[in-house]
Amino acid sequence: MTRILVIGATGQVGTELVPFLRKIYGRDNVIAGYYPVKPEKGPLLEGPMEYVDVTKVESIESAIKKYNVDEVYNLAAILSATGEKNPQLAWQVNMVGLYNVLELAREYRLRVFWPSSIAVFGPTTPKIKTPQHAVIEPITMYGITKYAGELIARYYVYKYDLDVRGVRWPGIISSEALPGGGTTDYAVEIFYYAVEGKPYTCYLREDTELPMIYMPDALKSVVDLMKADKSKLKLFVGYNVAAFSFTPKQLEEEIRKYIPNLKVDYKPDFRQKIADSWPRSIDDSVAREEWGWKPDWTFEAMVKDMLVKIARKLGREIHVD
Ligand code: SER
Repeated sequence: MTRILVIGATGQVGTELVPFLRKIYGRDNVIAGYYPVKPEKGPLLEGPMEYVDVTKVESIESAIKKYNVDEVYNLAAILSATGEKNPQLAWQVNMVGLYNVLELAREYRLRVFWPSSIAVFGPTTPKIKTPQHAVIEPITMYGITKYAGELIARYYVYKYDLDVRGVRWPGIISSEALPGGGTTDYAVEIFYYAVEGKPYTCYLREDTELPMIYMPDALKSVVDLMKADKSKLKLFVGYNVAAFSFTPKQLEEEIRKYIPNLKVDYKPDFRQKIADSWPRSIDDSVAREEWGWKPDWTFEAMVKDMLVKIARKLGREIHVD
């Protein structure tokens, strides 16, 4: 049976990926690697948990040995906005962390999942339907580490015949854990303000279009890619995937269909420059061809589902039908 260690399990993706993987692989076969403190509640506690600091080889290695792990999903990352406040930390976590995982994968012959991001793209990249292979000159430390990470991960695939796989996620919208320190976080935060009847101040301009994906599709991309026939894969890491694109104004208007008194104002900050350097939409045809990627969720369906889930979480009532 496959034994999986998820590093960065307490983050936005890990919080939902761990329970999702436990349903597929069995509760005891998915170890939630937490950092820095063990959560006191939530679904991660329903199975094995272990302290894992991705920047320390010994910390990862001891979890691998203790649980006889054969796959590592490395989700630990400092996102784009936090990375600009502390680029050195972003390098340590994103780059050194990935290198540590790859070296251990080489030694213990582990399969690896590691996500990249649309942040690999920069101002010189074509913005509409950005192709898989485009000009890639990122301007954030996050984007730089993600692109360097793609190159080194693919190097390990071909140099050491390792099975390392990954996607380039766009902004991820989710109802369980909040994202931390990204440029696309507004698209989650706004739902909490809307449901609580509070005015929201968006830190991006209202016409800033960005590619996004709903968490159920992001989770599906992980499992579909990890289960894909290896002989069909050429890229292995950094597959463009996307579901839909929208601007803050379009999101505001869609939410207002259900919460008519929602008030939003726009005060762009330093994150505007980051958002302006990223694509507006993504061409994910390579992922579709190599491993059959296809999202299920539309923008409109995501907004309804988010409102229902956030309202339930906050103990509020909402009607979306
Ligand atoms: N959601 C990420 C960020 O905004 C992009 O990968 O940093």
